[in-house]
Amino acid sequence: MTKKVAVLAGDGIGSEIMAQALKVLKALDLDLVYEEALVGGVAYAAYGHPLPESTLKLAKESDAVLFGAVGDFKYDNLERHLRPEQAILGLRKALGLFVNLRPAVCYKELTYASSLKPELVSGLDLLIVRELTGDVYFGQPRGRRISPDGLFAGSEEGFDTMRYSKPEVERIAHVAFKAAQGRGKHLTSVDKANVLETSQLWRDTMNRVAKEYPDVTLEHMYVDNAAMQLVRAPKKLDVLVTGNLFGDILSDEAAMLTGSIGMLASAALNEKKQGLFEPSHGSAPDIAGQNIANPLAQILSAAMMLRYSLDMPEAADKIEKAVKRVLAEGYRTGDIWSEGCKKVTCSEMGDAVVAAL
Ligand code: NAI
Ligand code: MG
Repeated sequence: MTKKVAVLAGDGIGSEIMAQALKVLKALDLDLVYEEALVGGVAYAAYGHPLPESTLKLAKESDAVLFGAVGDFKYDNLERHLRPEQAILGLRKALGLFVNLRPAVCYKELTYASSLKPELVSGLDLLIVRELTGDVYFGQPRGRRISPDGLFAGSEEGFDTMRYSKPEVERIAHVAFKAAQGRGKHLTSVDKANVLETSQLWRDTMNRVAKEYPDVTLEHMYVDNAAMQLVRAPKKLDVLVTGNLFGDILSDEAAMLTGSIGMLASAALNEKKQGLFEPSHGSAPDIAGQNIANPLAQILSAAMMLRYSLDMPEAADKIEKAVKRVLAEGYRTGDIWSEGCKKVTCSEMGDAVVAAL
């Protein structure tokens, strides 16, 4: 059956980079239908809400959502529930997207953009699997109260609850082990089991699930050590799995190793492999409307969509290879440009990827 893709370009540079991703997808002539809808600031302008009912309905009935970016500063003064970014949270919640896949890839042609020495990052290709709907961000109870005991009894205090249930860890474990099977067969589980009960449960569960994947080597690492290893010897890591809080921080740390926010894709998935695929960057309102944004993160997000939601891994490979090729040929948008390379616009970069296909 023909699969359906909801195309939500969003605001800011969203429409410019999405046009390039669609150009690339259509050049592959896949058995897919694409349906566009408004989200973020442009949806607020048209419907008075960043995630209108019609957009949410389209997302729910699609096999995958290709998402651009939202957050144009024109809407900075809106109340929080009307701000463009609420659309992403709303979609995550409505679709039950509990997996966040964040690859950090440093192309050998772009090592000059990294904050680390070239030899540490050249060829870096790691995948962070972050649990996205649990942990201290969602645990109850939370709030403010007058501290009942201890050194600061009688003072106001704030509290959150770190919480993970066994099935919640199990389902993310399976995703991570499967991802490791498809890559280097090595999985690093990151926790703080020397201090936290949730982490001990996490670790026990990982060990149990590991028995179902005898071809994958499981290693445990404390989160403080993982933070160090990421900047010391990141190429020794391949697939990392971790909870929501640690994953939030480590995935941003890993992104910086690659040096170029315009190159990084991400995916959020549910049990049915339905997913939302978007660049890791925001809507870059400072450069919107100028046709100079880097469309490669959006194009690579489309590749992830083909791989993880639509069962079209060959097509995903083709896109990833084409991206490597345009970089090898020296095409660069402004954000990754250096002396001696061919400076191109957003749409020219899209054309170059199509040509490389
Ligand atoms: P940003 O990622 O939009 O921009 C940071 C810097 O990187 C800017 O200088 C921008 O020009 C540059 N940049 C980002 N993407 C680029 C690309 N593809 N090509 C070339 N340069 C690029 O982050 P910022 O400025 O913190 O946020 C802007 C808005 O985006 C905010 O309203 C924020 O809330 C929202 N945002 C939305 C996200 C999403 O849609 N998932 C994620 C992060 C931020
Ligand atoms: Mg973050």
